[in-house]
Amino acid sequence: MQGPVFAVTNRLPAPAVELLRQAGEVRLDERETAIPREDLLELVAGADAVLTLLHDRVDAELLDAAGPQLRCVANVAVGYDNVDVAAAAARGVVVTNTPEVLDDATADLTWALLLAATRRVAEGDRLVRSGREWSWGMSFMLGSSLRGKRLGIVGLGGIGRRVAERGRAFGMEIAYHSRRPAPTEVTAALEAERMPLQRLLAESDVVSLHCPLTPETHHLIGARELEAMKESAVLVNAARGPIVDERALGEALAAGRIAAAALDVYEREPRVEPRLLELDNVVLAPHLGSATVETRTAMAELAARNAISVLRGQGPLTPVAS
Ligand code: DGY
Repeated sequence: MQGPVFAVTNRLPAPAVELLRQAGEVRLDERETAIPREDLLELVAGADAVLTLLHDRVDAELLDAAGPQLRCVANVAVGYDNVDVAAAAARGVVVTNTPEVLDDATADLTWALLLAATRRVAEGDRLVRSGREWSWGMSFMLGSSLRGKRLGIVGLGGIGRRVAERGRAFGMEIAYHSRRPAPTEVTAALEAERMPLQRLLAESDVVSLHCPLTPETHHLIGARELEAMKESAVLVNAARGPIVDERALGEALAAGRIAAAALDVYEREPRVEPRLLELDNVVLAPHLGSATVETRTAMAELAARNAISVLRGQGPLTPVAS
C-alpha cells in the first residue's frame, strides 16, 4: 500500500499494528528483545514515523539515519529518557509518549513489590522451594504492617497518585515530594503533605519512586539519602533504575541501614548490581510495571494513534514536554 512508512522497532500487540496498516506501510521488526543498533538504524531509514521502545536510543544519529522526512517518534512508554527530545525538536520531529494508560497497571505492580518486600513474600517463596525445614512460629519471618504508617511518594504524577490512592486504602498516611505542588483536589483527596526530600526520607516507612529520569533525578537516592531513611524503612523503585545509586543501595541493605527494597528497574538494565543478587531483603522484578495484556495493548494503540495523527497533520495526542 502507498502512504506513509511506519517503522516499528519491536513486536507490538496486533490491534496497534492493524491501526498502522490501515494508515500506511508498516516496517516491523518482530523481535521480542531489543533490536541491535545496526538493524535499528537500517529499519528507520526512510520512515515517516518510528514507534520505539524504552531501550531504543533515539539520538541525533538515529534521527539522521531516518532522514529529513521523519515527522514523529512515538515512544511506547510513559518515560522517554531514551529520546533526545532537543535533537528531535531541532529536526522538526514530534516526540510522543503513552501517559495515563499505564498508571493503574504500574501502581498495581508497585504495590505487589511493596507488599512482597514488607511481608517477605519472595524470601518466603525461596525458603519453601529450597526444601529447608521451617515451621510456623511467633517470631518466624516477621514483616511490618502498613496501617498507620507513612508512604512517601517521590513524584506525584499519574502513577504516583494511583500508588498513593492504594496507600490510603491500606490505611497509610501520604507524604510526597515533587518539584511543583500537585493540584489541590489531588492532595486534598489523598490528604497528602508535600515536603522536602530529606524530610520525606527521614519520616517515611515506605519510600516509593515515581519521578522521571532526568539529569536532576539521576542518583537522586544515593548513600546520603539512604542514610537519612529509617532503619525500618523500605524503598521501592518502579520508575527508572538510574534514579537510585544501586551500589549504595546494596551497601545500605547489606549493612541493615534500611530494612528492605523492591526494584522493578535497574541502573544498567537488564544487568543487576551483583551485591543485590546475594541479599534476601531485596525483591527483584524484571521491569514489569506496565506488563498486562490490556495495558500493553492500550500503550501500543496510543503510540500508533499518535504517529497517525501527526502524519495526518492533526497534531500529537500526547506530546512529551520539550
Ligand atoms: C514506561 O512506560 O516508561 C514503563 O517503564 C514501561 O513499563
